[in-house]
Amino acid sequence: MSGVNEIRSTFLDYFAKNGHQVVESSPLVPRNDPTLMFTNAGMVQFKNVFTGIEKRPYSRAATSQKCVRAGGKHNDLDNVGYTARHHTFFEMLGNFSFGDYFKADAIEFAWTLITREFELPVDKLMVTVFHEDDEAFSLWKRIAGLPDEKIVRIATSDNFWQMGDTGPCGPCSEIFFDHGPHIPGGPPGSPDADGDRFIEIWNLVFMQFEQLPGGDRILLPRPSIDTGMGLERISAVLQGTHDNYETDLMRALTGAVADLTNVDADGPQRASHRVIADHLRASTFLVADGVLPSNEGRGYVLRRIMRRAMRHAQLLGARDPLMYRLVPVLVREMGRAYPEIVRAEALVTETLRLEETRFRKTLERGLTILEAESEGLGAGSKFSGETAFKLYDTYGFPLDLTEDALRARGVEVDVPAFQTAMERQRAEARASWAGSGEAATDTVWFAVREEVGATEFLGYGTENAEGAVTALVANGARVEALGAGERGLVVLNQTPFYGESGGQVGDTGIMTGDDGLAVRVLDTQKKLGDVFVHEVEVESGTLTPGTAVVLAVDPSRRTQIRANHSATHLLHEALRRVLGEHVAQKGSLVAPDRLRFDFSHPKPVEDGELRAVEDIANAMVLRNEPVETRLMAVDDAITSGARALFGEKYGEEVRVVSMGTDAGNGAPYSVELCGGTHVARTGDIGLVTVLSESAVGAGVRRIEAMTADAARHHLNAESRALHGAAALLKAPVADVEARVGALVEERRRLERELADAKRRLAMGGGAAEEEPARTVGAVKLLTRQVSGIDLKDLKSLADEGKKRLGSGVVAIVAVTEEGRAGLVVGVTPDLTERYDAVALVRRGAEALGGKGGGGRADMAQAGGPDGARAAEALAAIESALAAV
Ligand code: ALA
Repeated sequence: MSGVNEIRSTFLDYFAKNGHQVVESSPLVPRNDPTLMFTNAGMVQFKNVFTGIEKRPYSRAATSQKCVRAGGKHNDLDNVGYTARHHTFFEMLGNFSFGDYFKADAIEFAWTLITREFELPVDKLMVTVFHEDDEAFSLWKRIAGLPDEKIVRIATSDNFWQMGDTGPCGPCSEIFFDHGPHIPGGPPGSPDADGDRFIEIWNLVFMQFEQLPGGDRILLPRPSIDTGMGLERISAVLQGTHDNYETDLMRALTGAVADLTNVDADGPQRASHRVIADHLRASTFLVADGVLPSNEGRGYVLRRIMRRAMRHAQLLGARDPLMYRLVPVLVREMGRAYPEIVRAEALVTETLRLEETRFRKTLERGLTILEAESEGLGAGSKFSGETAFKLYDTYGFPLDLTEDALRARGVEVDVPAFQTAMERQRAEARASWAGSGEAATDTVWFAVREEVGATEFLGYGTENAEGAVTALVANGARVEALGAGERGLVVLNQTPFYGESGGQVGDTGIMTGDDGLAVRVLDTQKKLGDVFVHEVEVESGTLTPGTAVVLAVDPSRRTQIRANHSATHLLHEALRRVLGEHVAQKGSLVAPDRLRFDFSHPKPVEDGELRAVEDIANAMVLRNEPVETRLMAVDDAITSGARALFGEKYGEEVRVVSMGTDAGNGAPYSVELCGGTHVARTGDIGLVTVLSESAVGAGVRRIEAMTADAARHHLNAESRALHGAAALLKAPVADVEARVGALVEERRRLERELADAKRRLAMGGGAAEEEPARTVGAVKLLTRQVSGIDLKDLKSLADEGKKRLGSGVVAIVAVTEEGRAGLVVGVTPDLTERYDAVALVRRGAEALGGKGGGGRADMAQAGGPDGARAAEALAAIESALAAV
């Protein structure tokens, strides 16, 4: 008897032999469909191939696809554990034809596989067809040789398959296996078809149509084939059981639960083992595909799945977190087929442990309340919706967990009352918001948040995705459309665009859609913490709520931003190592072209220190070490030494980014709380260069840096400039600094010499209109009129004059090139009692049309606009002297 792993490979090998390309499972979070919560069938990754939008190099494919059905159109969560065949996570084996073969070959392939390779006895098989599908009916007759009574016509939607409300679809034909009369149940189409005796094992969908939004159904370009066979079901059949949980793979998991809890997997608590086994698979695969528990969207579905399993672990008496201890068993069973869970093992383990540890803190008290409040309630009665809400709100019990807990006793939760309590709480939150004085402009966002919920951010894992418009805002108010040429703000249900936060700027890029829709995304911001707002300009087409858009972040800009953000972490740690533990982040800017990092440090960072910081950061880059992100409880993260930004508000759980390893102790080199986007390995940063260091405030310094190509271009430009200078100097580059230093020094000396020469010329040369000293009243007076000298040299001219006179008064007027005049009067010290240089210079200044003048009794200076009246100024001083 084959194990699940062999059955999977038999299927894939069989179709490979028959000309099919074996394609890897796509991730559980669909990249190409905004309407779908999780990949729920094998055809999801081929949706656009069926409709003809996407081309692939093959027209036949086979896959083993990871699927989750929990939340959305196909939701099986509530039944898991209590039935033989419900799962939240399962593997769907499928073969696909994209306009290649159709019904006849699909039936032929399926029949040969199950009767020849799997050797199922023909008399145990029967099939259904869509009631109008005579063609399928006769093909089954011809190919499989089935008698009419084993080909059942079904008129219901059971035999018309649809992926979701929109997308490819078509009539289908299902193959059933009869487990025999000892199991209750009737054949398909009969009143007791729901029993476990006749089990659908394979669904062949004859893809012919595409369901459009609004109800229209159009033909696909070419008829195609999509099939789905649950691996768990076929394995059960091949292993001689009707119960999926009895297969080798599921037994390995329920057996591990039994080992850890010492509770019999086949005893009265069997359902709990099964819930845990199933939910362990869903949780592990979801986390490995980038979903982390949260209170919104996919993250909340994951949390519900995890917590449901954790309650069952508690029912089994597990005193400590249990789920994470099962991960190695699952990885052993499924890691070969899905290496992503091997790679994510550490993250999965930690995420499960964290969630269970946190949930356990409130689980017991919540269960006590649940018990007390439901005491005495009999089958068919209702449990208070108010209490269910309290359990949800205070104790973290998702509604379905409470429902699950009451189910065994036939008690149901009063769901409308639960909803009313939820709505009342929202209204209260809204009222307190309105009264809290937050910016009025944000009230529109509060309403949007209420109505459409948080945006799911996909941008850690991808830069391309699809989204659906949930709200449009222009000029501060909601609008119903944004047309060509208009600008506005767009909210989507999910987005790969990073909204500005934590210093990292928002993403830019494009949105496209049907009917030529083309939209430029100019910026992305975050409102109220988790509503992503895209600032857009519509180039063509129209955006309305509900529009599906293909989203593409500008990839090279994002690459640069990532490198700069990761470099900021490297520099932060390097600064701390070089300057000391007091270094704390005070702010940062992470843009595509550069980064800025502000930190506490009391004095300028010296050149040598800065070089050391740069060296440490670049050493980490060269070591090309992995950059890892984990989700942790905020307190645990901080206790474990992750650097947090003081004063920043963090949620209960935080992303923790670690980089590199410390050569000394093997611990991560840098660990920070950070919601930003980062490189995968430090080598992706390429190069870090620090451009400047400056002060931004008391005790806060700022460095600016560049990375990767920007850094290289910057350094190249500087190098070119240096080579240019060297060429002008006709010197080697290495000598440029010394040579420029010498030139500057030489220039200073020459300037000094030139000024001296001018002064000498002014005092003694022909440039001055010279008058000999003469006696006015009782003193000697020397007057001069000069030009072509710097006004600041006037005083030293006057000093020279005073020296020459020994005792007397000197008055010099200088006329500038623009025709203005400067005037200086000097009085030798023996005469300052009687003659005041300031008074004298003022008299002269009046003649020059100037006002004022100042200095001391022995030397004063003034000026005026009328250089032409220089002689009159000197004359005025002379007559003032004469009058003393
Ligand atoms: N897409 C089909 C299914 O999920 C095969 O059943």
